[in-house]
Amino acid sequence: MQVKQPLFFDTHQENKDADIQELIQGLLCPQATLSPKYFYDELGSVLFDAITLLPEYYPTRAELEIFVDQANEIHAQFPKQATWVDLGAGNCQKAVMLFTHTMPASYVAVDISTKYLSNNLKDLQAKYSELNVVGLGIDFSSSLTFPETLKEQMAGQPLLALYLGSSLGNFHPTEAFYFLQRLADLCKTGQPGSGLIIGIDLVKDSQTLERAYADELGVTAAFNLNVLRRVNSLLSSDFDLRDWQHFARFNAQESRVEMHLIAKRNLVVNLQGHQRAFKKDESIHTENSYKWSIKNFSDQLLKSGFTSVKHWTDSKSHFGLFWASLH
Ligand code: AVI
Repeated sequence: MQVKQPLFFDTHQENKDADIQELIQGLLCPQATLSPKYFYDELGSVLFDAITLLPEYYPTRAELEIFVDQANEIHAQFPKQATWVDLGAGNCQKAVMLFTHTMPASYVAVDISTKYLSNNLKDLQAKYSELNVVGLGIDFSSSLTFPETLKEQMAGQPLLALYLGSSLGNFHPTEAFYFLQRLADLCKTGQPGSGLIIGIDLVKDSQTLERAYADELGVTAAFNLNVLRRVNSLLSSDFDLRDWQHFARFNAQESRVEMHLIAKRNLVVNLQGHQRAFKKDESIHTENSYKWSIKNFSDQLLKSGFTSVKHWTDSKSHFGLFWASLH
């Protein structure tokens, strides 16, 4: 018997030159920075999955609690016979969990970690042989364009965009606004009933926040340090991971958890013909994870083009799940 294979579009042909320029530029800044998108190579994606299982990392469990406890009300919003576009799908487990209540007509999984996604989609297609499964390997943070054949396939159906796990929190609020605008535009291309379901982490006490990003087992530290291995492979640079230490802190003024890698000693790194000296305790800023209030996030959704917003929270009000639509 022939096994159905998911359709896969890989438009994230790593634009290596642009990546190299971006990495070097960020590392040569007075406050060295790296974009968090470089976390997600194959190992980084697996480490992130491990983070979601940590007792300290509450967002994944809080989001799941909302989906379980308020299932009827949430699924009542979802359009039927829709194309689901799962942004940052990763292992696809969150969407699959929702299939027990609402089955999509087509499932389009989008992720920057192309190989990881394509392996997961093969398993998913084997399990749901009737489902129209499509994979799209793109860096959707910079552009959200779909291949023409996929657009034709999606036309005529309502669209459900999913952006779960508070990944929008890794965007600066201005970038988040433009990204939400793009999602509102995407929903406008679908039939009536189209909308966005999005999870966002809420602002809370700094102890809970900092523990979530500096777990006792050191998984988040490994996730953070792994980015230096990725940089070494892209730039042929000579970061020695033993020289760096993971650090996370809540910056209350900016309402964000910041992750840094801190130099344990004075050192010099070679970066494709450039050299960057780091003093002991100097840092590379690797990630921001913005924490929102319900009010600010609802306003942001409305400003970006959605016309109706509903939300649910978990029992501790740690996490918010928002439904944003166009009616
Ligand atoms: C993917 N993103 C929402 C995670 C977060 O919480 O900002 C990434 C992460 N970084 C450290 N732990 C988890």
